[in-house]
Amino acid sequence: MQIFYTIAETQQYLKTQQKAGKTIGFVPTMGALHTGHISLIESSKKENDLTVCSIFVNPTQFNNPEDLKKYPRTLEKDAELLQAAQCDVVFAPSAEEMYPSLPKLKFDFGTLETVMEGKFRPGHFNGVGIVVSKLFHIVKPDKAYFGLKDLQQVAVIRQMVADLSFDLTIVPCPTLREADGLAMSSRNMRLSAEARALAPHIYQLLLLAKERLQHGELSADTKVFAAGYFKKTPEFELEYLEIADFDNLAPVEQAQEPGKTAICIAAFLGGVRLIDNIVF
Ligand code: PAJ
Repeated sequence: MQIFYTIAETQQYLKTQQKAGKTIGFVPTMGALHTGHISLIESSKKENDLTVCSIFVNPTQFNNPEDLKKYPRTLEKDAELLQAAQCDVVFAPSAEEMYPSLPKLKFDFGTLETVMEGKFRPGHFNGVGIVVSKLFHIVKPDKAYFGLKDLQQVAVIRQMVADLSFDLTIVPCPTLREADGLAMSSRNMRLSAEARALAPHIYQLLLLAKERLQHGELSADTKVFAAGYFKKTPEFELEYLEIADFDNLAPVEQAQEPGKTAICIAAFLGGVRLIDNIVF
């Protein structure tokens, strides 16, 4: 496995590989890797000659400086996991390498970012758009793999790829969960033992909400139910639960045809912000 820290080295190596006719699969990450990330590497390995993983804690997508500071940085362990998964190339640039100066360009994803994560983390998707477009230009992948755990991110990146004619395919991948249903996330390691024991309630609420909607309940009533769900567990603070169209993220009044409805949630648990969703 090759590890590169500079854009020039990465481009030089990948250009040679591409000239030799190799296809490139790309998995962008912020490190602190877990089995969920590794599942993206495995998907890429199945479909491409060469798999590239980037590890970069992107400062421009954090609207909260404390969150950026607290973000786990575990490059050595990440490299071991990637090596075991037979990833071919790791690109792990410094902030100075990626941003010699702060970009002036601003992305505006319209209604895709005025809801959910975009609404509660202003500027977040601008930062994601900036870094992912830079990474796409550096790596020039044939396919790029994104987890549906970040459903809104997938919608935003798809829009960006369409609007800017990036010559690549976005491959959305399913959310990997712990045995008790908790969606795998780098943030889970920040949960206290007590909070970790409570965390599966997030997925349980999603399943209950899905059942209610499938039985014809209106979204507005499901949202009232969700607001009450955590009342008995004061460690939780529900930020939002939205019932939305899977493709354009617009709120829907009730469940739609199979595969078209997404229930998305963000909640604080013992000071850690967790997100999850299901599509049905
Ligand atoms: P990060 O949070 O590190 O996630 C990297 C990729 O792993 C994303 O596509 C995310 O959706 C996926 N992922 C996270 N948890 C997962 C799980 N439990 N199952 C499956 N996939 C999972 O998302 C980012 O980084 C950044 O915004 C990035 C795209 C790298 C831009 O900085």
